[in-house]
Amino acid sequence: MTTPLRVGIVGCGNVALNFHVPAYQAEPDRFTVTALADPTPERLELGRTNTGLTPEQVHSDALALLAREDVDVVDVCTPQHLHRDLVIAAAAAGKHILCEKPLAATPADAAAMVEAADTADVVLGVVHNYLFFPEIIAARALIDDGAIGEVRTVAVDMLGVVDSPGAAGYRPQWRHDPAAAGGGVLMDMLHGVYLAEHLLAEPVERVSAYVDAATPGDAVEGLALCRLESARRAALVNIGWGFGPGGIRINGGKGRIVLRYRDEGTIPWAPFEALRLTTEAGTETLGLPAGQELVPLVADALRATVADFADAVTVGRAPAAPGRAALHTLEATVAAYTSAALGRSVGIPLPVDSPVHRRGVTGLGELDVPATSTVRTRGLFGLATPNGS
Ligand SMILES: NC(=O)c1ccc[n+]([C@@H]2O[C@H](COP(=O)([O-])OP(=O)(O)OC[C@H]3O[C@@H](n4cnc5c(N)ncnc54)[C@H](O)[C@@H]3O)[C@@H](O)[C@H]2O)c1
Repeated sequence: MTTPLRVGIVGCGNVALNFHVPAYQAEPDRFTVTALADPTPERLELGRTNTGLTPEQVHSDALALLAREDVDVVDVCTPQHLHRDLVIAAAAAGKHILCEKPLAATPADAAAMVEAADTADVVLGVVHNYLFFPEIIAARALIDDGAIGEVRTVAVDMLGVVDSPGAAGYRPQWRHDPAAAGGGVLMDMLHGVYLAEHLLAEPVERVSAYVDAATPGDAVEGLALCRLESARRAALVNIGWGFGPGGIRINGGKGRIVLRYRDEGTIPWAPFEALRLTTEAGTETLGLPAGQELVPLVADALRATVADFADAVTVGRAPAAPGRAALHTLEATVAAYTSAALGRSVGIPLPVDSPVHRRGVTGLGELDVPATSTVRTRGLFGLATPNGS
């Protein structure tokens, strides 16, 4: 048996304390949490009591955690605009890094993080935990087995996303700040983007999209309808806050796979209900375990994510979502915003000198955004509306 990896968690917000800490505690042979960092005193104290660490093991300054010798892995759980500096410093300190999604708020930040990890020769894994949902694993296995022939289209509907606030003691509304979040519901739920690409089983090359505000005056979009194109296939990814429908449909040359969730709801708020495979032979329902409610579902997926990461570090293989894959997902997401602003499809990777590569959605104002674009008419991401309001 190998010695457990010693983990320092940076950011003691909702995802860290509700899911990351329990995931490590459920894998005692692989991990032991040795340190925490958070500048918000109440979150740090909550983290300390949840983990049973001593006051000497918790830090208001993440740099103190990075300097510890009893930390092998740094787990970055802060909002995404803060990921870059923390990941680069962790890599420079020779730590392996697990980082929450989205990898960063801008492609330039994400690219710098990938480069820092490569230079330091440390593993950078990203929490793309929906890859571990049982029905996603089952659907991808059917695709790989050729059950539906060559995939033609994938449709991912997540129009019933719940707009959850961040930890009360910090900035509960940071997801509505374009500079902090890098976008709205699409950026927060870019799970839908990597799931679509995973089920297309081909890299996305071009993106087009429409975005809208959920409520007039919102700074970020609450609805995003996206089309992702790979060399021979295409996916539709529809994501929105509210009560719209959810579900995943995969269309192949010889059949289809349909994933249904309770009351046509959105993963993971609505538990998985059924995977139906339809071919020439008829329709069968796969015998998967009953879907779980959100908390145990995400808890299990987080546990699988950290276990995969530990194996990647231990045997020196790539994790399920390496930094470079997460950078690609982020590029596709930022390309969607760019497309919605410009009214045309956008290729990825984005040119490194483009404002949206450098600044994400906050760079859209530097582009020639037409007056008719919803990004401008709704005043999203700080763009002025035509009447200047
Ligand atoms: N994979 C998933 O399913 C999933 C689910 C929820 C959130 N997330 C991601 O996790 C990240 C955090 O989200 P959340 O909901 O926990 O946010 P949150 O607002 O609940 O918590 C953020 C925490 O970061 C802390 N923080 C701020 N600056 C810091 C710094 N410099 N060093 C250390 N800590 C700092 C805050 O004090 C706060 O405790 C985001 O990137 C989010 O997208 C992922």
